[in-house]
Amino acid sequence: MNFDIADPNLADLGRQRIAWADTQMPVLATIRERFAKERPLEGVTMAACLHITTETANLFRALKAGGATVVACASNPLSTQDDVAASLVRDESISVFAIKGEDTDTYFRHIDACLDDRPQMTMDDGCDLVSRLHSARPEQVGEVVAGTEETTTGVIRLRAMEAAGALRFPIVAVNDADTKHLFDNRYGTGQSTLDGIIRATNVLLAGRVIVVAGYGQCGRGVSNRARGMGAHVIVCEVDPLRALEAVMDGFRVLPMAEAAREGDIFVTVTGDRDVLRREHFAAMKDGAILANSGHFDIEIDLKTLGEMTGAERRRQVRPFVEEFLLDGKRLLVLAEGRLVNLSAAEGHPAAVMDMSFANQALAAEWVLQQGGTLEPRVYDVPREIDREIARLKLETMAVEIDVLTPAQREYLSSWTVGT
Ligand code: ADE
Repeated sequence: MNFDIADPNLADLGRQRIAWADTQMPVLATIRERFAKERPLEGVTMAACLHITTETANLFRALKAGGATVVACASNPLSTQDDVAASLVRDESISVFAIKGEDTDTYFRHIDACLDDRPQMTMDDGCDLVSRLHSARPEQVGEVVAGTEETTTGVIRLRAMEAAGALRFPIVAVNDADTKHLFDNRYGTGQSTLDGIIRATNVLLAGRVIVVAGYGQCGRGVSNRARGMGAHVIVCEVDPLRALEAVMDGFRVLPMAEAAREGDIFVTVTGDRDVLRREHFAAMKDGAILANSGHFDIEIDLKTLGEMTGAERRRQVRPFVEEFLLDGKRLLVLAEGRLVNLSAAEGHPAAVMDMSFANQALAAEWVLQQGGTLEPRVYDVPREIDREIARLKLETMAVEIDVLTPAQREYLSSWTVGT
């Protein structure tokens, strides 16, 4: 078995933490138990490019129980939990290629190592695996039956591939399931982003001005959690509808050029590049904290910030906190502008990843059940799967809901009854 991990001696800690996460993932545990009996993924080699965390480890346990052989690499150079990687290798016999802090070359070498195992399925978070497969190994693409994609950025890239006629096998957009993005992106990113900022800096949020760039589900989550902790939140948006929602949700909405002067903490969650750039750095206050929670490290223009300060006026002041001295003021960049929630904290809590990864497991099963009839397109998770995950999650939370009476059901399907 091949692998490349930081330290095999961390396996005990990893195993303990994976077991802890498992206690918060009852929906996935139910799926794992069924998979162990039915073996829907029997004989399939799956290459998974995901954040290597305790929650992902429990997804892999479910896939393995279903009969799959899993080979895994990181979907971000800074998000790997090295103890989890060690336990996956030792306790689950999963080939893992992931080391926290790996450089870009190693990151792609690890993706290539997964592809060397000639997978029939891909499971991606951000589309780097699928993109690498299509661009660097076109001769191998035909061996892949289908894939799944975890995140908004990945789905956007896949839709671009589909539109360009470049996508060569079907992919299920797990991100777009309601039981994924309405919870993971909102409550998961909301909580874990603040967790990352707090763990990195121990800053008090109450009374501070937090500028949140982007008001998609992730931005909503961050804004609401920050408000809940007593911060004054300013939202920046480019989309008029989302900006209007932010206004009516009670947030101040400003262009970044103005917000830059007011913010104590900046969080980018747009999915686009250069959201914080030269003119914003120049306008920021002394001590401003800059964090990114979007998928790639492109939202804060760190290249320009580095040029503005010069190499000699930047230093590490705490783990995951780098200080840039700019015209006598300090700007503090967290986690090299990479996903702050997974770099400086542990990512989303297991209870929310329970639903995201239930979608992954059931999407993998569904796509194989289609027996090669799907087109090379981006597919939604079937509605029934989405609803079933919501039902199961409620059940595990001991929450009961009403059912329609026969008269109510009939009313909803009729068109003759009016005033
Ligand atoms: N994405 C965000 N949080 C995560 C987690 N805890 N595990 C895997 N992927 C994630």
